[in-house]
This record gives sequence, structure tokens and C-alpha cells, in this order.
Amino acid sequence: MLAIAARPTDQPLGLGASLCCWLIGGPVRSEPPAWLRQRLEAAGGSVPFSIYMEWVLHDPLHGAYGCGRLRIGRDGDFVTSPSLGPDFALLLARQLIDWLEALPADPEHRLSLVETGPGEGQLALDLALHIAAERPELASRLELVLVEPNPGMAERQRLRLQTCPLPRRWLSFAELADAPRTGVVLAHEVLDALAVERIVADGALWRRQLVTLHGDSLRLEPGEPLEPELLAPLAALELHQPGPQRPTGWCSELHPGLEPWLRDCARSLRRGQLLVIDYAHEAWRYYAPQRANGTLMAYRAQQASDDPLQDPGHWDLTAHLCLESLELAAERAGWCSLGQCRQGQALLALGLAEQLHGLQRQQALGLDRLLQRREALLRLVDPGALGDFRWVAFGLGEPPEVECPPLFLREPL
Ligand SMILES: C[S@@+](CC[C@H](N)C(=O)[O-])C[C@H]1O[C@@H](n2cnc3c(N)ncnc32)[C@H](O)[C@@H]1O
Repeated sequence: MLAIAARPTDQPLGLGASLCCWLIGGPVRSEPPAWLRQRLEAAGGSVPFSIYMEWVLHDPLHGAYGCGRLRIGRDGDFVTSPSLGPDFALLLARQLIDWLEALPADPEHRLSLVETGPGEGQLALDLALHIAAERPELASRLELVLVEPNPGMAERQRLRLQTCPLPRRWLSFAELADAPRTGVVLAHEVLDALAVERIVADGALWRRQLVTLHGDSLRLEPGEPLEPELLAPLAALELHQPGPQRPTGWCSELHPGLEPWLRDCARSLRRGQLLVIDYAHEAWRYYAPQRANGTLMAYRAQQASDDPLQDPGHWDLTAHLCLESLELAAERAGWCSLGQCRQGQALLALGLAEQLHGLQRQQALGLDRLLQRREALLRLVDPGALGDFRWVAFGLGEPPEVECPPLFLREPL
């Protein structure tokens, strides 16, 4: 059971690897695949880490998500909260319903529940089933919109959602921007899949990390100094220079893709809310001198590794978010912050304790199923793992969507 990999496994500090999954050590690298070799050669032998990460995750033919190779769930490469069972969706639905029911009717469309990066499609299905059963009136004027840039994943989502009781469609942010919706956007473990720029300290300078082809192998090497625009999030944290606490070779991540993503997302809504659920640290933790190798991790077949270069296109690569960078990027993209808290607190506010006690009355489920649901509920709030995720809410439009405090921030009854 302990081999089930709930991301993240925070390697240098914080969560213990053994809690979540097997951490496999030292680089054991094979030759880069021919497609990657050709691209690196065409690029002159090296590319910034962000380009490498974009290729190995999102290339439609070779990327781990792009071609649909990665599987999410107990039998897949890693688990996420929704893949543990329906209880996560059931609790989250309380927040989404509260927001959706308070929104005015959209003159041109049904109200939209937009899920970005829906993975296997299980969360969307569980939410739709629950809303249709518990709120038929809302369901009758609601549409599910899936935003999934990776064709291989979208194909599996279509299959999973065949029995979905709500009308559904797959649209890109660009298509949504042509006809913006009123609704709620959900980003569950999506922003951690955006390509990060890795930064390396070199005396008084920050350098961009490169992935370089050396004969038959790949290496990580410091490249040119970073442009001042990219350093803006670090300057806001007074880290425009590494300083003496971060010796040469100290490495971390920046998220240049966050602001464009949040801007595209804002353009897709006329009014409504965005809920980001992901692993994140405050800046002081993220860029702590002791965190000398950043937060980037690789996952495959319920194993975790800190080597991003092995078997490119077969491992998930993922990095934590920095909370302040997320808030700053969201503000610049036009979102208004509605607050944030840890998942454990959010789920308790939405009724997790009652859900847990209610299991006692569901003997008909059978002992195995009851124990599995009990274990899943406890894992969702485990402060050393999934309970440490952050729920970060933003609003767009007018009151109440930009003023009303989210239900998940209330004290549990
Ligand atoms: C880690 S999985 C999370 C899946 C699901 N939300 C869950 O929690 O089980 C990341 C998902 O985001 C998708 N994705 C990656 N980049 C994206 C982007 N720029 N916009 C929307 N989705 C993206 C991936 O293809 C995949 O479906």
C-alpha cells in the first residue's frame, strides 16, 4: 500500500519519501531517444530546461501526457486525490455548487463548469454524477467544459465520460475566449505540469539551466545569465541575486508559464471563479537555502525520482508552485484573490468529518469498500501528504464572485 505514489514527494525537505512512494536513487540513464537527440542537435546541442520539459511532457507524439502514456490512479503512474475514490469530488462539489448557484444566468450559454487538465476524466465524471443527483435544477442549466491540450489524454477522457449525465464539450482556451462563459474553472494538479525554468546560482548571478547532449548522454548544465524580466518574481522576494546562503550550483524553479496560463483562463470567463488545487510552498520555504535542488520530481509506475533526464517522455515531471508567484501572476492576469488554505482544512470545512462518520451507516457497501473509502478520506487530509495541498481561489467579475469568501475557508461546524 505504501508504494502508491501520491505526488508530491518533496525530496530535500518536508514530506518523507517513504510516506508516499518508493524513491529510486542515483541517475541510471539510457541513451536519449532518437527524436530527442534530433531536436537537441537541431537546436545546437542544448535547450533551456523549460523547453526540454515541454517536449517530454506535452509533445503530441512522444510526450508523457501528449501521447497519453501516463496513467493516473492506483494501477497507474501516480495517484491524485480524485483517483482515490468519489469522496473528494463529493466534498469539492459543495464548494462548486455554492459558487455556481450564486452566479447569474449566462445570456448565451448554459452555466459552465470548466475543468482544465482533467487527466483520466474521473473527477469531471464524479462531479457531474453528484450534481445531477443532488441538484437537478442546476444540472439542467449546466454544461461541462474540458480544457485538455494533450490529444492522448483527451481521448481517454472522452471514453471515461461516455456516461456523464451533463452535456460536455472539449474546448481550448482560445475557443473559449471567442465566447467567454459564466461559470467556475477548476485546475486540479494542472499548474504543476506547466514547464518550469530551472535556475542555478553562480556567485552573484542566476543562470538558466540547460539540458545538453554529450555524446550518448544528457546532462544538466548552467547556461547564460537569466534575463531581468524572468527574474521579476525573485526580485519581488528580494532574491535578485543568489547571495552567500545559496552557493554555486544551488538550484530552484521559476514558472514563466503561470501568468500566460492565468491570462488565457481569465479570457475564457465573463464572470465566475477559479479554484487552483495543487502542491505549493510559500516563497520562504520554496527558495529556502536548504532546498538546494528545488522541488522538481519525476514519477512513473508509483516510483519517484529526482532525476528528470531518465527515459525522457516516459516519466511525469512536476514542480511545486510558489504561492506568492501564483498570487502575483493571477493579479497581473486580472484575477482577484479570494484566499487560500491547506486541503486538510478545506475538506474539513466542506464536511469531511461528517462524511467519515456517515460511512458507519453504509454497511451495505461491504467491509472492503468501507475500509477503502475510510482510508481514502484519511489520506485526503493527511498533513504529511495530500492534506498539505493548497486550495487557492480567485474571482473575476463583480460581487458576489469577487467578494464572497469561499465555503472552504469557513470554520468547520
Ligand atoms: C497531473 S495531471 C492531473 C489530472 C487530474 N486533474 C487529476 O488530478 O487527476 C495533469 C493534467 O493536466 C493536463 N495539462 C497539461 N498542461 C496543461 C495545460 N497547459 N492546460 C490544461 N491542461 C494541461 C495534462 O494533460 C493532464 O491531463
